[in-house]
Amino acid sequence: MPRILIVDDEKNIRRNLAAFFESLGYQVRAADHGEQAARMLSEEPADLVLTDFKMAEMSGLKLLEEIKRRDPATVVILMTAYATVESAVAAMKAGAGDYITKPFSLEEIRRTVERALELRGLRAENRELRSAVEQTPLLDSTSAAMRRLLETAHQAAISDATILLTGESGTGKNVLARSIHEWSPRRDRPFVVVNCTTLSEQLLESELFGHMRGSFTGAIKDKPGRLEAAHLGTVFLDEVADLTPGLQTKFLRFVQEQSFERVGGDQTLTVDARIIAASNRDLEAEAAAHHFREDLFYRLNVITLRVPSLRERPQDIVPLARWLLRAAGLRNRRPNLRLGAGAEAALAVYRWPGNVRELRNAVERAAVLCRSAVIEREDLPDSLFRDLPEPLAAGAPRSLSLEQVERDHIVRVLAESATLDEAAGALGINVTTLWRKRRRYRID
Ligand SMILES: Nc1ncnc2c1ncn2[C@@H]1O[C@H](COP(=O)(O)OP(=O)(O)OP(=O)(O)O)[C@@H](O)[C@H]1O
Ligand SMILES: [Mg+2]
Repeated sequence: MPRILIVDDEKNIRRNLAAFFESLGYQVRAADHGEQAARMLSEEPADLVLTDFKMAEMSGLKLLEEIKRRDPATVVILMTAYATVESAVAAMKAGAGDYITKPFSLEEIRRTVERALELRGLRAENRELRSAVEQTPLLDSTSAAMRRLLETAHQAAISDATILLTGESGTGKNVLARSIHEWSPRRDRPFVVVNCTTLSEQLLESELFGHMRGSFTGAIKDKPGRLEAAHLGTVFLDEVADLTPGLQTKFLRFVQEQSFERVGGDQTLTVDARIIAASNRDLEAEAAAHHFREDLFYRLNVITLRVPSLRERPQDIVPLARWLLRAAGLRNRRPNLRLGAGAEAALAVYRWPGNVRELRNAVERAAVLCRSAVIEREDLPDSLFRDLPEPLAAGAPRSLSLEQVERDHIVRVLAESATLDEAAGALGINVTTLWRKRRRYRID
């Protein structure tokens, strides 16, 4: 029977869930915080981890990242009391199998767990095939915003101008960066991706600029950096808002002069690389709030392309879903799958906070789980139907503007929070955004 690890700092929840899954025959262990969970997993792995999202010591999201780092095949399901869009999107990006909103019934959690495990089994079978079929993006759209974007991207691709890609998580910034490289005269040269989030400052510095032997512990030989590897090609700085202040300064010099030294080296190297940077944060606001060097921002912000969210181009949802399904079908040895009318209608009205990434996950999952060749509503994830807004309570004033509601809600949350970070967390936005909204609504 599958092994489940339950992680929650609330004793009652832990106990009830443990007893329930034991009664279903699972091998169950429980931990009351993330670090204990990580320790237990290093002693004996689990097939599935069911963890609370918000815990005192190590958040569920941190634990999720830790688990995925150790063993990407472990399924993680997050239980959350605050189904904020941002947290769900972050969870998805970090590889959560699913998430479920508290309160839930035992029946619901059982279904969620069974599905996630089934999906994992089927995916393992298909893993070999899956890597063989690379997804080509669908870059054709009937939405005016998307067409404008693609036109500008094509034009910009021909030049060597620095490009900044913005847009919500999962909208396709990485996809577009690669396409711009493919459309550029540099297409036969390297396209080098540097993710500014994943590594420590020292590692990222040597990753970018290279290092000389002996420049730090572990530097056993001279090593060229990613910038050197990108010579005559394109370097893509992903999640650029995460660059540390020190690296922002070093990188600014590279943007200005195309030159730099390896860590521990004294020879100045010159590299001709076209720069594309991306961030899902509002880099201008980050610069205004002094979280990001303003001069670097202006250097990167030569041509800015904002990739619209899927909500802004609902007419693309169904064509994208069909496109993604064709690829998912091939990967999963089910080439004749198609979407039923009910499923298409459900996809078309959902808001897709996680954008194309979420759509891709939903389609992939349906392609694996559906019982017949036609995907129906029932084959789509529950989250599509879960977060429909509550109907307006009887007697609730209908004439409030959205701004009024937003302002009132921010005031209330601020009054209940000890720190701005806490308030921003509860509101599901980052502190910079909160700071801007306070200024805009004149909230002290
Ligand atoms: N036009 C598209 N056609 C097909 N697949 C797409 C398209 N756009 C995005 N995707 C898919 O959606 C997922 C997310 O895309 P991508 O990684 O480019 O998003 P992103 O904007 O960089 O997100 P983040 O800000 O979270 O890094 C990927 O699996 C990608 O293949
Ligand atoms: Mg990205």
